Amino acid sequence: MVNRVLASPKGPELSELVQGYWRVSDWNLSPQERLTFLKQHIDKGVTTVDHADIYGDYSCEQLFGEALKLDRSVRNHIEIVTKCNIKLLSEKYPNRKVKYYDSSAEHIQHSVNNSLAHLGVEHIDILLLHRPDVLMDADEIASTFAELQKSGKVLHFGVSNFTSQQFDLLQSRLSSPLVTNQVEINPINFSAAEDGTLDQLQQYRIHPMAWSCLAGGEVFSGSSTQATRLRITLEDIKEEIGAASIDQVIYAWVRRFPSKPLAIMGSGKIERVQSAIESLKLNLSREQWYRIWTASKGIEVP
Ligand SMILES: NC(=O)c1ccc[n+]([C@@H]2O[C@H](COP(=O)([O-])OP(=O)(O)OC[C@H]3O[C@@H](n4cnc5c(N)ncnc54)[C@H](OP(=O)(O)O)[C@@H]3O)[C@@H](O)[C@H]2O)c1
Repeated sequence: MVNRVLASPKGPELSELVQGYWRVSDWNLSPQERLTFLKQHIDKGVTTVDHADIYGDYSCEQLFGEALKLDRSVRNHIEIVTKCNIKLLSEKYPNRKVKYYDSSAEHIQHSVNNSLAHLGVEHIDILLLHRPDVLMDADEIASTFAELQKSGKVLHFGVSNFTSQQFDLLQSRLSSPLVTNQVEINPINFSAAEDGTLDQLQQYRIHPMAWSCLAGGEVFSGSSTQATRLRITLEDIKEEIGAASIDQVIYAWVRRFPSKPLAIMGSGKIERVQSAIESLKLNLSREQWYRIWTASKGIEVP
């Protein structure tokens, strides 16, 4: 069963597993097939979906919107997370000379309006600043967020890939609490657990959203010594805990952080979603958890 959880003490409610749509442009699905996939994961309890304006060279929100248009009632059963502030080099923006970040009021407003139009919805449940931007002005962002909330275009705000200091700086100027920090967490890269990011979220009782839990597939296919070591350990633990696959062991490992990350799944295959759901009943002992830590680092804890 996929539980509903409060992302932060005052909400909003999300599903404990989230479906990511970064790769939807690679799935080669028709609008009807996209709708079927969406309905299938909603029926299983995965109601929160993760997007960004830039995914698929600015195409993924539109692909999702095309599917939603086929059955408008589906909007009432999902929570949409999307992001802004990265400006990609793209043929769609021929005058841009470099990839950069833009957290100005003008760009955030513009990006939200585009996301609403592409998704074909009237509001975004959670808007995240995608990356920390050294030029971001917390006061300007605070007034922009307040306007977006007042207009009903965005219900809640969060950040992604922020350090704990950047999180506190922005929060200090906002009138409503940030509800998440979406960060990379997987057995290959869990720096967020070591640089204070997850500690801060535990302190504030905010669930991190965890991206690339399977390291984008690297855990399965990587040829580095680290990935090879990890696969051996994950296979051993899979047998010990009666998991069906090593991805289930990884999801159990990610869930074990005391900040209780909400894992974002990246596959468009419903059987992989089902496998992640089944992993929710699995638990790792501390020793098993640290065996994966050790396999990742290649050394024992100090
Ligand atoms: N905030 C950020 O900066 C940020 C950055 C990156 C991603 N994200 C979000 O996080 C979501 C998840 O990221 P992700 O797509 O990198 O997640 P992921 O789950 O780590 O990687 C998904 C990839 O792994 C492959 N895979 C999954 N299970 C597999 C298995 N058992 N064997 C072999 N390959 C397997 C998938 O292939 P198949 O498609 O063949 O299943 C897919 O290519 C994204 O959709 C996006 O919403 C956020």
